[in-house]
Amino acid sequence: MKTQLPPGPRLPQAVQTLAWFTRPVPFVLRAQRQFGDVFTMRIAGESAPWVKLGHPDLVREVFTGSPDKLLAGEANEILRPVLGDRSVLLLDRAEHMRERKLILPAFHGERMQRYGELMRDIAEAEIASWPPGEELELAPRMQALTLEIIIRAVFGVREAARLAEMRTALSELLALLTSPVAFAAVTLVGHDNAIRIGPAKRVLAAVDTLVQQEVDAHRGADDLAERDDILSWLLQARDEDGAPMSDAALRDELVTLLVAGHETTATALSWAIERLLRTPASMDRLHDEVAAGQSEYALAVAHETLRLRPVIPLVLRTLAEPMTIGGIDLPAGVKVAPSIIMVHRREDIYPDPHAFRPERFVGVKPGTYTWIPFGGGVRRCLGAAFALFEMQVVLEAVVRSAKLRAPRARSEGVSRRAITLAPADRTRVVAA
Ligand code: HEM
Repeated sequence: MKTQLPPGPRLPQAVQTLAWFTRPVPFVLRAQRQFGDVFTMRIAGESAPWVKLGHPDLVREVFTGSPDKLLAGEANEILRPVLGDRSVLLLDRAEHMRERKLILPAFHGERMQRYGELMRDIAEAEIASWPPGEELELAPRMQALTLEIIIRAVFGVREAARLAEMRTALSELLALLTSPVAFAAVTLVGHDNAIRIGPAKRVLAAVDTLVQQEVDAHRGADDLAERDDILSWLLQARDEDGAPMSDAALRDELVTLLVAGHETTATALSWAIERLLRTPASMDRLHDEVAAGQSEYALAVAHETLRLRPVIPLVLRTLAEPMTIGGIDLPAGVKVAPSIIMVHRREDIYPDPHAFRPERFVGVKPGTYTWIPFGGGVRRCLGAAFALFEMQVVLEAVVRSAKLRAPRARSEGVSRRAITLAPADRTRVVAA
């Protein structure tokens, strides 16, 4: 098999890396204009080149391809020291499917509805704390809100002191994962070592202890079947052989859900508000529909936000063996990368693609291969229904209880925070 990779930007690797980290959207869209829907990118620190794919047909090939040949776990390697060896994000093949099947039912769409009241209460309390008349960064507020929701949904914890302990430990863990200093440490000493030293070790130990205490407390409870929290569900889950999850696996999956479900959703919510404040007609319509007790437009806003401002720019799969994708022969070892940015900005799918228009999704179900903010196939985000529902509930609460304005008319740029693409000024607002 011929192993020449598709052409791509000829800039030196260091320059490509810098462009990808500092200006991912224009960099990728320019390369797409120049090279088409398939091109190769070379990023420093990556073990293999990335072959970016920007057409839904190519995305379909990857998402429906054999999970034995398209490995996702390896691409998330950097998270291993924190999430652990048993995390569904890190596993591949049969082990991944076993773990995924155990967790998936806990995130079933209908089950999500049960968290509605919890989400609404937490959102309303948070919004009530926004000081009127002052300029405020909304992103950290959204982070506090989504953290509270995920802790309560995962563990069902209600007691204030316990919640405070968890909030502190998990905020520290998240800060570590998104801190430039921690990233530098990882680059200097490798991630396995970085996590064994200094603050990282202490923070991880604190999280592990809290998680284990919750697991132990739940195991002792006799009403697990009646509880709504995700841990209660996971403790009752059995695989095809009737085996439960081990404590080690439980720890890794719980930390995975807490980490994966928090900053991502907060960032998506921050973008939704940033875009709505720059698109007053959409804000007005959302306001009117919520006042009339309708939820459809709030969901359309969530869909359109994740289209135009996807939180994650791409997903990666490592080829375990040579494969032909889009008629192009690719060698083993290469990483194929369905580009969320490229697919979402296609004019042939989304006319006027750079405009924020929730109307696109009113009465329209997003396409499996044309709307991919949660990735796809057997690796599609397990929390997608949870995140969309949370976005919908929180947006409704915001327009119901707060009157926000943007202190500056200028749109906020796209800035990278570790792996997410976030509003550069952290969504500045003034609450009336
Ligand atoms: C707007 C918010 C979110 C976004 C944009 C997002 C995005 C993603 C993406 C792009 C992937 C990789 C998919 C792939 O490789 O094809 C993923 C995987 C995953 N996400 Fe999310 N996510 C969000 C919220 C959540 C929430 C709330 C949870 C859980 C509470 C969660 C749990 C997971 C898990 C467990 C995986 C791994 C799935 C697997 O490998 O089988 N995510 N997410």
